Amino acid sequence: MILVTGGAGFIGGNFVLDWLAGPAEAAESVINLDKLTYAGNLENLASLQGNPRHVFVQGDIGDSALVARLLAEHRPRAVINFAAESHVDRSIHGAEDFIQTNIVGTFRLLEAVRAHWTALPADEKSAFRFLHVSTDEVYGSLAPDAPAFTETHGFEPNSPYSASKAASDHLVRAWHHTHGLPVLTTNCSNNYGPLHFPEKLIPLMIVNALAGKPLPVYGDGMQVRDWLYVKDHCSAIRRVLEGGRLGETYNVGGWNEKPNLEIVHTVCALLDELRPRSDGQPYASQISYVKDRPGHDRRYAIDARKIERELGWKPAETFESGIRKTVQWYLDHPDWVANVQSGSYRQWVQTQYEAPVSA
Ligand code: NAD
Ligand code: DAU
Repeated sequence: MILVTGGAGFIGGNFVLDWLAGPAEAAESVINLDKLTYAGNLENLASLQGNPRHVFVQGDIGDSALVARLLAEHRPRAVINFAAESHVDRSIHGAEDFIQTNIVGTFRLLEAVRAHWTALPADEKSAFRFLHVSTDEVYGSLAPDAPAFTETHGFEPNSPYSASKAASDHLVRAWHHTHGLPVLTTNCSNNYGPLHFPEKLIPLMIVNALAGKPLPVYGDGMQVRDWLYVKDHCSAIRRVLEGGRLGETYNVGGWNEKPNLEIVHTVCALLDELRPRSDGQPYASQISYVKDRPGHDRRYAIDARKIERELGWKPAETFESGIRKTVQWYLDHPDWVANVQSGSYRQWVQTQYEAPVSA
C-alpha cells in the first residue's frame, strides 16, 4: 500500500486513478490524504467509490498526529507527496497558505515519516520511499537561448509559490543527507489534461471560450512553458518510485516548449473544429491582453535526459495528441466544469459521501 497526499487535486487525482486502474485484485491499495482545499475535489475520484483499495482521509499533511496514525495503521511502503498550494497568482495575492502547506506542512510530513521509518524493521526500512513532487519553477526563469534546466541548475525561485516549493525541496534533500531518509524528488514542467482546475491557463481558456468570455493573456503572451500531459507525469513518478536512485532529483518534461499565445490559439482552433461558435466567428476573437503577472517568469524548459537515460522514461503523448484529448475531455464533462465553477462540488462531497470522509 502507498500513501498519497493531495490525491484529490489535479495531478494527484490523475495519479490515484491511474494507479488503481485495471483489475482491482492487481492494484496496490492507496491511502489518499487530502485537506480538500478549494483545489481538492472528491468528484475527481467518484469512479473509485466503493473501491476497497482506495481509502480517502480528509486531513492536513501538517497534522503530525494524524499522519503518524495513518502510517502506523496502514504501514505504506511509500509516501508520495503531491499536497501543495499550487497556483502562482494566488501566491502573489497571499502567500500564507503556501508557507504553511508547502514549507511547514512538508516539514511536519517529513518528521512524521522519519519517526515511522526509523522504527521499521530492516527489510521494510530499506524498501521504504518518500517521493516529493516538485516543479521546474524552483530553477527560476531562462533567457531565450539558454539551455534547458538540468538537475544541477541552481535554485532561483521568483514567486512566493516557487520559493515555497524550493524550500520544501531543500527540506527533503536535507532529511536525506542528514537523517538518511530514503527520498526521491521530481521537478516537473507545466502539466495539462483532465481534472485541471480552471484557474490555470489551459482549462481557463477552454471554459472561458465556451462561456463566451474574454480569454485573458498576460502581458505580450510570449512567455514560454514546457507542457506535459498529466498522465505522462504520473508514469514518470511511477518510474522514479520503482527505480530512482535515493537522494536524487529527476527532471520531468515534455520537450514541448511553447509561448502562451500559441497555446491559446491552439485551444481556440480545436474548439472551432469540435464545438464551433454559433455565430461562426473564431474563438480567437475572444483573446484579450491583460496586465502582466508581477515577476512573471519568461521561460521554463526542462532537460529530461536524466530520467530517460537512467529509468527509460519518455512521454507517450505529443502535444498535439494531448491537447486534443484535453479539449475533448472538457467538452465531455460540462457538469464537472459547472460544479467547479459554482463551488457546488463542495456540497457534492457532502451529498455523495453523506458524512464528511475521514479516517
Ligand atoms: P492542485 O492545486 O490541483 O492540488 C493540490 C491538492 O493538494 C488539492 O487536492 C488540495 O486539497 C491538497 N492540499 C493542499 N494543501 C494541503 C494540505 N495542507 N494537506 C493535504 N492536502 C492538501 O495541484 P496540482 O497541480 O495537482 O499539483 C500537485 C503537485 O505537483 C504540487 O506539489 C505542485 O507543486 C506540483 N506540480 C504541479 C505542476 C502543474 O503543472 N500543475 C507541475 C509540476 C509540479
Ligand atoms: O511549471 C510548473 C508549474 O506550472 C507548476 O509548478 C504550477 O503549480 C502550475 O500552476 C504551473 O504554473 P504556471 O504559472 O506556469 O501556470 P499557469 O497556468 O498559471 O500559467 C501558465 C502561463 O500562462 C503563465 O505564463 C501565465 C499565463 N497565464 C495564466 C493565466 C491563468 C495567462 O496568460 N493568462 C491567465 O489567465
